[in-house]
Amino acid sequence: MPEPEYEGEGAMSKTIGMGILGCGDYLRWEKGAIAASKRIAVRALFDPRAERARRYAELLGGEPAESADAVLDDPDVEVVCLFVPPWLRRDLLLKAVEAGKHVIAVKPLGPTVEECGEMVRAAEAADVLCCVQYRRTGNAVLETCKDVFEGGELGRLAIYRQDWMHHYPQWNDWATDPARNGGPFMDAMIHNLNTARYLMGRPVTHCTYFSEDFAHPDLKCNDTELMKADFAGGGTALLFITWAADLAVYSTEGNDREHVEVLYMVTDQGWRLTEEHRSGEQLIVASREGRERLFRPQALPATFYDRFAEAVETGGPLPRDVPDVRAAYEDVKLVRDGEANPGVRMAVDLSLVGQ
Ligand SMILES: NC(=O)c1ccc[n+]([C@@H]2O[C@H](COP(=O)([O-])OP(=O)(O)OC[C@H]3O[C@@H](n4cnc5c(N)ncnc54)[C@H](O)[C@@H]3O)[C@@H](O)[C@H]2O)c1
Repeated sequence: MPEPEYEGEGAMSKTIGMGILGCGDYLRWEKGAIAASKRIAVRALFDPRAERARRYAELLGGEPAESADAVLDDPDVEVVCLFVPPWLRRDLLLKAVEAGKHVIAVKPLGPTVEECGEMVRAAEAADVLCCVQYRRTGNAVLETCKDVFEGGELGRLAIYRQDWMHHYPQWNDWATDPARNGGPFMDAMIHNLNTARYLMGRPVTHCTYFSEDFAHPDLKCNDTELMKADFAGGGTALLFITWAADLAVYSTEGNDREHVEVLYMVTDQGWRLTEEHRSGEQLIVASREGRERLFRPQALPATFYDRFAEAVETGGPLPRDVPDVRAAYEDVKLVRDGEANPGVRMAVDLSLVGQ
């Protein structure tokens, strides 16, 4: 997809100033949507690797800053993106919300339940919007699936089944470290745990978790993890990820890997839903007894950043395709509680720690 270019003149009409902390690989994925925003102007960027902040300042506008504090103290910055590794997020998020900045963070919220709990408390005590981006953010296919399930025409979502297989991350030194991030589930499958919870639209009641190592004793984490999450009123998510197979790595500069995926959903009326490409068109295909119904993903009305800006301007709720900080806390708690009770079907407790 061609990258939208930064439009210097358009920046004059942009009303919301944004600061970016962390100019690593995730910003590479986000830069197109940020550049395309009609309402948000990048004012300041910081990364301890100064050349990265300089490079993205040239691309997106704004000025490279001397420190994270310089961005957080900047009165022209209303929204702060925390695109840093998870183990660095808490201190920055606490400072940001204390300074009255709205926050766009990214999964996983933090490496420990305690740190995530602190972030929830601070964000909820402040009069700001605080969200955590996941893979479902800005995803038209998943938003259309949500509409279909809410509309009820195919019944309720009963089974959400997803497998991911790719090489372990090699573009940084923290992703495979459970103290700073986690294993494959915390690092990647947590995206799909959040999606499953969103699409089910009802609480998780029980969870069973497995974590094993099959091929990488050299890593600090296990290479294969599985969660079965059961939902109120029936319904289950089966989420499996493995880094055991050394699939292709196209570049160690960023997330550029061979990726194998299986995803299907089944409703309580026996419809199976899959995402398919037919004649170059992306479709959601629902099938039952050999009959098909096709759903075209409905394009989202604006970039995520513009929809977030609108929420800031109107004091409205967060866009639907992004969870708040508490939902992101709950994802981390599910994973960590599961890890502490491997193989046990446990009743889920998503309360905030320390309360
Ligand atoms: N890369 C992806 O494909 C991807 C996809 C989805 C989510 N994420 C999430 O995005 C977050 C960042 O991951 P990444 O892949 O960009 O990692 P990365 O290591 O490529 O980039 C992180 C950047 O943060 C910088 N940094 C460190 N300390 C900082 C500080 N105090 N202030 C500002 N910047 C600081 C680092 O120098 C680095 O440039 C993680 O939570 C990750 O899980 C990444």
